[in-house]
Amino acid sequence: MQFFDVIEARGSIRSYKPDPVEPEKLEKILRTAVKAPTARNKQGFKVFVIKTAGHEKELIKMYMPESNWFVDAPYILCLCAMKDVYQDPESHRDFSEIDAAIVMDHMTLAATALGLGTCWIGAFDKDAAREVLKLDDNLEPIILATLGYPKQPAIKRQKKTLDELVVYWN
Ligand SMILES: Cc1cc2nc3c(=O)[nH]c(=O)nc-3n(C[C@H](O)[C@H](O)[C@H](O)COP(=O)(O)O)c2cc1C
Repeated sequence: MQFFDVIEARGSIRSYKPDPVEPEKLEKILRTAVKAPTARNKQGFKVFVIKTAGHEKELIKMYMPESNWFVDAPYILCLCAMKDVYQDPESHRDFSEIDAAIVMDHMTLAATALGLGTCWIGAFDKDAAREVLKLDDNLEPIILATLGYPKQPAIKRQKKTLDELVVYWN
């Protein structure tokens, strides 16, 4: 798929087929995380590739109990920031969330290009994620995304117009 077609095709998917994700596709997606820009090229992140099968009950604790679709996806990706990397006394800003968002965006777009669906999950319980994933203290879970084959194509959601969102400043 061409880049601009990928942008058009992507949309949040909240219903998944049970079909497995091919390991080659998963690796291709993860390789885009490695290529993503990060502040000062620190790459202070870890991507947890979580297989949902057999772990549904634990994983649902991280999100909303009524949202079963979350664990219908064969994988959940969890983007974690490495705290020690972002505790740089010289820099005045913590770019860990920006970096994590860029990395996740690369992966969700790559997934779309490969015919897979994703949905970003920000409304998750960080403490539950820490416990379920047994994260060490140095890792801060920032954002999750489901990954799998969509049951239906993405819904085209209403977006604002260019005029509403862009300011040409001369
Ligand atoms: C940072 C972020 C957090 C999000 N958190 C959630 C979430 O917790 N649950 C959910 O169902 N969707 C979540 N979404 C998906 C958005 O609701 C979705 O992207 C938005 O409605 C636009 O729809 P589209 O992705 O189909 O264009 C999140 C998206 C982003 C970028």
